[in-house]
Amino acid sequence: MFAITGITGQVGGAVARALLAQGQQVRAVVRDTARGAAWQARGCELALADVGDAQALAEALRGCEGVFLLLPPCFDPSPDFAESARLIAAMRAALLAARPARVVALSTIGARAGHRNLLSQLGMLEAALQDLPLPVTLLRPGWFIENLAWDVAGARERGEIESLLQPLDRAVPMVATEDVGRTAAALLLEDASTGHRVVELEGPRRLSPNDLAAALARALRREVRAVAVPRDQWEARMHAQGMRNPEPRMRMLDGFNEGWIAFDGPARQGGTGVDEVLRRLVDAA
Ligand SMILES: NC(=O)c1ccc[n+]([C@@H]2O[C@H](COP(=O)([O-])OP(=O)(O)OC[C@H]3O[C@@H](n4cnc5c(N)ncnc54)[C@H](OP(=O)(O)O)[C@@H]3O)[C@@H](O)[C@H]2O)c1
Repeated sequence: MFAITGITGQVGGAVARALLAQGQQVRAVVRDTARGAAWQARGCELALADVGDAQALAEALRGCEGVFLLLPPCFDPSPDFAESARLIAAMRAALLAARPARVVALSTIGARAGHRNLLSQLGMLEAALQDLPLPVTLLRPGWFIENLAWDVAGARERGEIESLLQPLDRAVPMVATEDVGRTAAALLLEDASTGHRVVELEGPRRLSPNDLAAALARALRREVRAVAVPRDQWEARMHAQGMRNPEPRMRMLDGFNEGWIAFDGPARQGGTGVDEVLRRLVDAA
């Protein structure tokens, strides 16, 4: 039995699909049974737990061969990252109580970057899991190609994507969430005796904002260009979008733009290209 947190989201869903396709038993860990109904219909067991509730989560993870652990995204954290710290403490306590045979935790490229930024929340997760007496794999994917979903409407309506990644021709490691899920499933099925390890993952080729605009142009069959948003406008824009604390997100973007958010070593490669992801995003928009 494999317990999957975040199963109603992008990566968790892909992990579950990959495991079910291989005939594995899956336990969907959900916050709301109604949101788990579709997974139950596909043959999954349901377990109800918020990942911030150590006791409920321990129950949900008990008796499992493997656990896929996802720290829910927090794009606008408090300056001390208190929201993630609370969830991470509960997840660690739940794993210690439930003792699954192995854990694959979703982390990120740049989790241990030298400067504090939005991704440092995943660095906190890594630090909390590193001394667990269980085999733990930290899966560090690059930037999700699906982040482009935010840009489909602007590309369709105005022929433009506004980019905070810059310069516009700088290619960044990116990956499809389907590849992240498939890789996590494969890692869950590997031998449990491997101890702690880090696996980095990117797509078949690195992508710049200009590459993303060109891919959107192909998908939408219209001209699309990328436009760089000057850094001195970021903070006001993010406040206007309702963010309270834009600094960590701005520093994350600096990290990609300045190159201090990067992989530590050679990354594995997924096979899903940007055009395949974009076809799905454009159809769904
Ligand atoms: N975006 C990127 O480029 C990128 C790159 C590398 C790593 N990451 C990491 O990937 C993760 C996000 O993955 P994703 O895109 O698959 O997420 P997602 O689609 O936003 O889904 C989030 C999932 O977390 C669940 N969730 C939220 N709060 C919860 C809670 N308190 N207890 C239990 N479940 C909760 C949600 O369930 P509900 O249905 O109940 O809401 C949902 O299933 C984050 O850790 C992020 O840092 C992102």
